[in-house]
Parts: sequence; C-alpha cells; structure tokens
Amino acid sequence: MENRFKDRPLEYDYSVTKLFMWATIFLGITGMLVGVFLAWEMAFPSINTILGSGLAEYTNFSRLRPLHTNSIIYGFTLSGVWASWYYIGQRVLKVSMAESKFLMFIGKAHFYVYVVAAAIIVVSLLMGITDSKEYAELEWPMDIGITIVWLLWGISIAGLIGIRREKTIYISIWYFIATFLAVAMLHLFNNMEIPTYFYSGGIGKWYHSVSMYAGSNDAMVQWWFGHNAVAFVLTTPIIAMIYYFLPKESGQAVYSYKLSLLAFWGLMFVYLWAGGHHILYSTVPDWVQTLGSIFSIILILPSWGSAINMLLTMKGEWQQVASSPLIKFMILGSTFYMFSTLEGPIQAIKSVNAIAHFTDWIVGHVHDGALGWVAFMVIAALYHMAPRVFKREIYSKSLMSTQFWIQTLGIVLYFTSMWIAGITQGMMWRAHDEFGNLAYSFIDTVTVLHPYYTIRAVGGTLYLVGFVLFAYNIYKTMSARPVEEDELVNASPMGA
Ligand code: HEM
Ligand code: HEM
Repeated sequence: MENRFKDRPLEYDYSVTKLFMWATIFLGITGMLVGVFLAWEMAFPSINTILGSGLAEYTNFSRLRPLHTNSIIYGFTLSGVWASWYYIGQRVLKVSMAESKFLMFIGKAHFYVYVVAAAIIVVSLLMGITDSKEYAELEWPMDIGITIVWLLWGISIAGLIGIRREKTIYISIWYFIATFLAVAMLHLFNNMEIPTYFYSGGIGKWYHSVSMYAGSNDAMVQWWFGHNAVAFVLTTPIIAMIYYFLPKESGQAVYSYKLSLLAFWGLMFVYLWAGGHHILYSTVPDWVQTLGSIFSIILILPSWGSAINMLLTMKGEWQQVASSPLIKFMILGSTFYMFSTLEGPIQAIKSVNAIAHFTDWIVGHVHDGALGWVAFMVIAALYHMAPRVFKREIYSKSLMSTQFWIQTLGIVLYFTSMWIAGITQGMMWRAHDEFGNLAYSFIDTVTVLHPYYTIRAVGGTLYLVGFVLFAYNIYKTMSARPVEEDELVNASPMGA
C-alpha cells in the first residue's frame, strides 16, 4: 500500500517525550526519597512512629514499601522508557508524530491518563488498599486504568510502525514491541480477580477483590508475572534504549547486529520459564522449581549476549569511557547488567537459594541491577535526549561527572552492605548446635544487621543526592541559550 506520508519533510515532535522526561525526574526523586526513608527506617525502626501516631499509619514501612516499588518501577522507570520510546520511535522509523493528528492525540492521552492513574495509585497505596500480590498490589479499578494506559502505548507503537518510512525495523523497536506484548499478557493473567462486593451482593468494600487462582496455582501465576515484570519492565525496554543511545553517543555501530537478534530470541524464549526460582522449597511441584533453576542458569547466555554486544560496541574507542561521563553511565550500566545476570542465576541454584531466600542478599541483587543498570540507563537516556529535545547544551559536564562518582559510590555501599548482611542472616538462621537446636534467635540476627542497614542507608542517600544533581543539571540545561542541533558539541557523529 502507498504510504501517504512518505514525501513530507521530517521534523520530529518531542512534546510527549518532554512530558515523560518531567515525569521521570519527578517520580525518580519521589521513589528514591521513599526508598531512602525506608532504608533509614530499617536501620532505626523508631522512625516508623517518630512522626506521631496520626501520621505513622501512612509513613510506616509496610505502607511505604509498595509505594517505593510502584513509584520507582512503574513510575520512574516506565516514564523513562516512554520518554525514550517517543524519541527513538520517531527517529529510527523515520516518521514524525506531527504527521498524524491521531497519533499526537494518542501520545498526549497516554501521558495524561497515566498521570491521573498514578495519582490515584499513590493515594490508594498510602491508604493501604492492596490485594497483597508483590509488584501487582493494585485493586481491580486501578488494574483497568493500567490496561487503558498500556493500550494507548500499544496504539502509539502500532501507529508509528504503520506510517514508517524506514522499512527495516531496528533492534530497539523489537525490544519495545516485546515489552508491550509481554507486559500486556502478564498484567491480564495475573490480575484475573473476583470483585467480592459484586459477587457477594454488597458485602465489604466495593473495590476489594480476591484472586481467581487458589493456593499454589496463585503462587505460580504470581511469580511467573513477578519475574517477568523484572524481565519486561527492568530489562527489555532498557536494552531497547542502550541499543539506540550507546551507538548514537559514541558514534560507533552496534558490534554485531546478528548477536543482538540471537540474544533477543534467546531472552524471549528463556525468560518466561525462569519464574519458578522465586518459589524454591515452597509447595509448588518440584519439577516447576527445577525447571525455574535450570532456565535461570541458561539465562546467562542471552543476557551476556546483549551485554557483551554493548561493551564490544566501544571496541577501539575505549578512550571515550574516560572522556565522556555520559558513556561512563552506559558502560557501567552494561557492566552492572552482566553482574546482576550472573548473580541472579547463582541465587537460583537450589542449594544457594536455601541460604539467600528471604535475606538481604536478594535486596542487594535487586539494587545492583536497579541502581547500576536500570536507573543509570534511564539517566543516560535523558542526558542524551535533553540537548536534542530542548535544543540546548548540557549545562555542566563536570556536574555530570560528580553525579556519576557520587552515585557509583552509593551503589557500591548499597550492594556490598546487603551482601554481607544477607549472607550473615542466611548463615545465622541455619546455625544449630549438636542437638539440633537453633543457635540464634531472630532478634540476634536483627542486632547484627544494624551497621549494614546504616551503611545501606548512607549509600542510598548518596544515590539520591546524585539524582538531585541530575535534576538540577537538566533544569539548568533547559533554561540555557538555545542552539541548533548540529551546533551541539554533544551531537552524535552518526547523524539522526
Ligand atoms: C539472568 C537473569 C536473572 C536471574 C536468573 C535472576 C534470578 C533471581 C533470583 C534467583 C532471585 C531471588 C528469588 C528469591 O529467592 O526470592 C531474584 C530476585 C529478584 N531479581 Fe533477579 N535475576 C536476574 C536478573 C535480574 C535483573 C537484571 C534485575 C533488574 C533489576 C532483577 C531483579 C530482581 C528483583 C526485583 C528480585 C526480587 C523479587 C522479590 O521481590 O522477591 N533480576 N532474581
Ligand atoms: C535511592 C535509591 C534507593 C533506595 C535507598 C532504595 C531502598 C529500598 C529499600 C530500603 C527497600 C526495602 C527492602 C526490604 O524490603 O528489605 C527497597 C526495595 C525495593 N526497591 Fe529500592 N531503593 C532505591 C532505588 C530503587 C530503584 C531505582 C529501583 C528500581 C528501578 C528499586 C527497586 C526496588 C525493588 C524491586 C524492591 C523490592 C525488593 C525485594 O522485594 O527484594 N529501588 N528499596
């Protein structure tokens, strides 16, 4: 079919990108602030009630923890992903949002419906309204809201692809499509729930529901979802971003396009089977647990396939890692990706998981991936896009560099303290005397962990300080003198 847009001149429209960039910064500060508060609460539990009995209901650990995970994963990370999608999508498909009033409307609707849903979600979590499934805590009215937001994004992806001028679909777009399809499927299946109010003829709260699955089946669906939320929110869209931003920023072509496709299909096939590693030694069938362990170990291959491809993209140009703080963020990000995708499979080995499960070593694993890989890549993406969408130079490269080192120190303090805390915890829980009696009571482990929790809180605070410097740098960038894209010192050597 003839493409009626193909002869029009290209002028990319970044209005939706800008909106999502603001959301990324706002939700990043909020989510990390809550994380830092939680970390200090764990080190000094009296903070749970320090704010007075009236407020303590809203600021205690159990209310704030889901607020942290939701605002940082579905708030900060997804906003960064969507800012990047509305930027990368236009550029690699060689089509502008401005060419279609409909797609422009969908993009704006995507942002505003998302903001309204996010505000309702924050209030509901603070009020303690949850269905208690980790990373899927929200009750059914919010689940419907999320479905609408997701559909709007889907329409935007299909729409831009539908009117594209570029025939070849670049690898980043494959990863964005996979993210859309997988999360849609996971969200729908894991949130099959029965609203109790309507089912029981008006008993209880109208928004309350129970899962459609029972017992072990519920656990299996939940961790099929939970693990793949990691895969398709904290991994695939971030790979989509680095495959675009690293080559652009460094001026180097992706090391191997074949390897990128091989790793893509490997990741798609293997990830969906690995969720069983979250419920080892539980009541789910033993074969499900073994399958989860085996697939987790195989998962090293496609994960490292992507990570090595990113690192080798810098072949012959390693001096850029020393000279450009932006490249530093991306290269350390890939390295942390390799790191957490080696650590995860090790934790999935049954005998290792017997020590690691329920301990802070898991929290350490989460955050070396989250802070080192996910958040570093989101930061790098915004730093790359800001000069181009606001048509201004980055305000300060030295501030960028200072931010990098402060945050790197924060990550190191965070994960090393959690490793030591986790392994100490795991060993103490198992220790017993010659008669089989437990050697330590639970409170003994809590006392031993105090210094490590304090170090984690310091590390987290440093990370947040770095993020505030980032927000300041972007703000100052916006208020600087405008320049044309080809005048930008930072402009990519590879063109559009
Ligand atoms: C090869 C890839 C990976 C494998 C095999 C893997 C494996 C694991 C294992 C075994 C656990 C502990 C389950 C438990 O005992 O409770 C875990 C937890 C977790 N991992 Fe990974 N991991 C991988 C990569 C990542 C990455 C890149 C991230 C992104 C930041 C991540 C985020 C998480 C999260 C959020 C949890 C905690 C889930 C919970 O709430 O219990 N993982 N992972
Ligand atoms: C300033 C930075 C951050 C700090 C201080 C922080 C702190 C915390 C704390 C204290 C917890 C609770 C741990 C527990 O239950 O024992 C937590 C959980 C969690 N955080 Fe963060 N966080 C930060 C940034 C992030 C980022 C950027 C992400 C994701 C992109 C993230 C994802 C998570 C997840 C998935 C959990 C649940 C872990 C689990 O169940 O094992 N955090 N965080």
